[in-house]
This record gives sequence, C-alpha cells and structure tokens, in this order.
Amino acid sequence: MSMSKVVFAPFDGSRDGEVRRLFMEYPHKDFQLKSMKVSKESMADYLETTLQSAGRQTICIRANGKLVGLIALQYLPWMSEHFGLKMYAVPHLLAGYEGPLVRARLLRYVIEELQEVDFLDCRIAVDDVYAAQALEVAGFRYVGTEAYLGQELGRDEPFDPPADIEIAECIRSDRKQVLEIVESTHLHNRFACDPLIRTDLARSLYRKLVDNCFDQPQFTTLVARCRGAVQGFIISKTNETFCQLVGMKTGSLDFIGVRPGNRNRGLGASLNRAALHRMAQQGVKYVGVRTFANNYPALRITFKTGFAVTSTSLHFHRWIKRPKIEGPYPLLG
Ligand SMILES: CC(C)(COP(=O)(O)OP(=O)(O)OC[C@H]1O[C@@H](n2cnc3c(N)ncnc32)[C@H](O)[C@@H]1OP(=O)(O)O)[C@@H](O)C(=O)NCCC(=O)NCCS
Repeated sequence: MSMSKVVFAPFDGSRDGEVRRLFMEYPHKDFQLKSMKVSKESMADYLETTLQSAGRQTICIRANGKLVGLIALQYLPWMSEHFGLKMYAVPHLLAGYEGPLVRARLLRYVIEELQEVDFLDCRIAVDDVYAAQALEVAGFRYVGTEAYLGQELGRDEPFDPPADIEIAECIRSDRKQVLEIVESTHLHNRFACDPLIRTDLARSLYRKLVDNCFDQPQFTTLVARCRGAVQGFIISKTNETFCQLVGMKTGSLDFIGVRPGNRNRGLGASLNRAALHRMAQQGVKYVGVRTFANNYPALRITFKTGFAVTSTSLHFHRWIKRPKIEGPYPLLG
C-alpha cells in the first residue's frame, strides 16, 4: 500500500502561491465572469487578496508536498450573534478533478479540528459534483438551490410604477413598515428549510439583516408607497472592494418584498426597475441578484427587468455537535 504524506496548514501567501492554479482551473463560474466581462486573471487576483481578509481563515492541504486543495471559512458575526453559535460560511472548497476525497478531507479537518466552528454554511455550483459528494460524506444537509442572475446596465431605462404608487427613498418613518413586510414575506428561505432552525429565529434574522442595511452607505433602500403606506421595498448594494479590483462598478439587488395583498400588480417589477435606474445613475455597470430557484415570482420579475441566469448553486448546512466535556479538563503532563 502506498500512502501519501498529507499536511494541512493555514494559508500563507508567501508559500502557497499555487492556490492561484486552483482558482484558474475552477470552471463553474466561467459564464458568470464572461457575462460580467471580468477576466479569470482579475478574478483570481481578487480571490487571492480575500484569502487573508478580516474574519477569514483559509486552510491548504498538501499531498507529498504539492498543494492539492483549499478550504476558506468566513465568520458570520450577525448569524452567530442571532443563533448564539459560532457560524461560518465556506466561500471556497477547491481541489482537482480526480474525485471528492481531497474536498472531504478538508471538510473533515474543519469539523474535527477547528473547535470554534459550530455551523457551516456552504454553497457550491450545481455542476460541482465532487464538492456535492464530499459534502454528503461529511454529513451536510441540503437546504435549497439558488439561481444567480446578472445584467449589464446600459441605457438608463425609465421606470413606470402603477398609477397609485410612488417609489421613493426610504425615510426613517418608513422603516417600521419595511421591517413588518420583511417578517411577513421572507418566509421561504434556506433557514426555513433547515429543520434544526426555529422558524421564529429564521424570520427575525431577516428582519435584523434588513435593519442593519438602513444606516450603511453601500446600501440604498427604496419603498413603494400607496396613499402614504409602504406596500413594498427593495434594497440594493454597491460593492466597492470588488469594483476597485475588477475596475468596474458593480452592484446587487439584495432584498425585495411586497405585501401579500398587493402582489401581482407590477410593484415588484417596478421596484426592480427603480433600483436599477438608481444604480445606473450611481455609475454601476453590472448588477447581480440571487434568489431561490423555486421562487417563481422573484425569477419572473428579474427576467422582466433584463436579468439572465448566469449560474446556479446548491446550498448546504452542517451543524457540528461536539461532545460535552463535564467538569474541568484534566491537566496534561
Ligand atoms: C417576489 C415579489 C417581490 C414579487 O412582487 P410582485 O409585486 O408580486 O411582482 P410583480 O407583480 O411585478 O410580478 C410578479 C410576477 O410573478 C408571476 N407569478 C406569481 N406567482 C407565480 C408563480 N407561482 N409561478 C410563476 N409566476 C408567478 C406573476 O404572474 C407576475 O408576472 P406577470 O406580471 O408576467 O404576470 C413578491 O412575490 C414577494 O414579496 N415575495 C416574497 C419575498 C421574496 O421572495 N423576495 C425575493 C427574495 S429576496
């Protein structure tokens, strides 16, 4: 039996330049990059700079000295505070294309060795079969499929809300109503699909996320008012760090909601158009949006306002139950 010498170590930029090869070989976002007109080289540059950013831990695996895989974890402070656990996203799970083993080893390493990790939140491209198999091996739970859509902003299209609707920037006195809408509309999210998450906590998480957007300069909130009452809202964002690195101003539509009694009369599409109009005025050249792949009304309004699907991801959760150690630890040595 031949055994390879496997070594796990935190990413070190001065030693692990080979990670670039893993980014360059990753094929699953090629169409998305093409539609954004961002070269793979600039994307690899950007990703390399994020590996040691705040709140991120990156672990590399070497087999017989050669770097063969990488896992990155991003601490999720909001979710951690909300659920009272140390929660992390997995922005990268990369390895070669010989099978799922290297990815499974990276996941097991994190689950078994990193005591501070209670929960992992992992998105992978639908066609990244080896990543899906590795997640199954490591006991992850499937919680939904997300579509990523994008469009280049060309002309600044005018928008035309229904006659009784005014779309305007959210003012302080609108916030309470926006938060009410969030609680009554954001019911079908990935947390609601995870049986280990309490429904009331999943709902209030979205309320908290939206509340947090109001006072941050990168977010813009627009509301649709009908006779003074808020009937819907949309929140968009510009991403300055990414913009600087790829040399193009990009943005995203992050949250949208319309009161159930006012749906299917064009408010959602009008809010999308108003947000796109605002972003075009801010100089944004490319806008992305993400939604559950079975959220047909949300998909419909994105198609109607110029978006096309650029990639699709499977979403997984992993809760790590650690054995409780009672009493004081025995002293070693
Ligand atoms: C998504 C949402 C904002 C759309 O708002 P809306 O005001 O109803 O949007 P519009 O009236 O502009 O358009 C809705 C479209 O979806 C279509 N639609 C509604 N239900 C549908 C279904 N089950 N399957 C397919 N299409 C559907 C409508 O027919 C309409 O299309 P049309 O104008 O071509 O007929 C609203 O449904 C909502 O608040 N959902 C809950 C929150 C959410 O899911 N947000 C997105 C994720 S952040």
